[in-house]
Amino acid sequence: MVKPASVANRCRRVVSAVSFLAAVGGAGSALGQPALDVPYVPTAPSVVEAMLDIAKVGPQDYVVDLGSGDGRIVIAAAKQRGARGFGVDLDEFLVARARDAADRAGVAERVKFFAGNLFLTDISRATVLTMYLFPSINLQLRPRLFAELKPGTRIVSHDFDMAQWQPDAELVIPVPDKPYGAPESRVFLWVIPANAAGAWRGSISTDSGPVDFEAEIQQTFQALSGTARVGAAGGRLGGGTLRGDALRFALTTGVDDRGMRHEFEGRVSGDTVSGKVKTGEGEARDWRASRIRRAAINITPPPTD
Ligand SMILES: C[S@@+](CC[C@H](N)C(=O)[O-])C[C@H]1O[C@@H](n2cnc3c(N)ncnc32)[C@H](O)[C@@H]1O
Repeated sequence: MVKPASVANRCRRVVSAVSFLAAVGGAGSALGQPALDVPYVPTAPSVVEAMLDIAKVGPQDYVVDLGSGDGRIVIAAAKQRGARGFGVDLDEFLVARARDAADRAGVAERVKFFAGNLFLTDISRATVLTMYLFPSINLQLRPRLFAELKPGTRIVSHDFDMAQWQPDAELVIPVPDKPYGAPESRVFLWVIPANAAGAWRGSISTDSGPVDFEAEIQQTFQALSGTARVGAAGGRLGGGTLRGDALRFALTTGVDDRGMRHEFEGRVSGDTVSGKVKTGEGEARDWRASRIRRAAINITPPPTD
């Protein structure tokens, strides 16, 4: 049975990176091959399934597995979900195995496997990026994910998280014969957010004509904070998030029980955003704004642990 991740599971994550290495005997290299950053440990089939499920992989997707081992994730994405993609691995023996497996699965036309270093691999084509690497490698990759992947790209990691970048979803899967740590695997999903940071100006349609809207938004990963104003009334943003280009936040203007709550939803497209705002019990109104000053997404917040 798949269950949501618990706090206890989060606490085990550092232990599992260490026990991973202890169980598989380090990340050395085969004779004549470059040293691996992470040793080969295959993802259990039930976990592969959960990784494809959590990312909702389908025929439109291009799946890239960084450190692809015997190719099982990309091959399952092609065979079971109709996706395309590639895997890259430093270990040439594993790359050859992955190519054979793709042939046998009848998906060699849809997937490719390359011998190479994941740090030097172009990932920009991915709509889904999968990895079963170490936390330190995830953190080295994190800036590249924001720089090179399109908003909406899903990133799925087996067992290891991205420190302060909170996942958008998380699962725990029982794996009775796991070679290290507890008999279960964690699966994390992140969706690359659009950039909504900066100053915005626009309007909300009402029966009595447009009402001015302004916002000053800060963005840390997919989390939004800041201030906004509707007409003459201002307040702070609450619960602001982006999932890909889909933005939502609440704004309470006024004070205490006389405050007016507005719930904004919209889609960010470059320097414009448009969507609906619901105010109190009233019907949803159209809302749109243009960015008058762009800011960067903060992807280096101070550690929280
Ligand atoms: C834990 S295994 C995961 C294999 C596969 N993705 C899976 O989930 O079944 C990590 C893989 O990363 C590969 N690897 C380690 N360092 C690498 C690097 N710098 N570039 C490419 N592959 C690397 C290893 O050879 C190994 O196959």
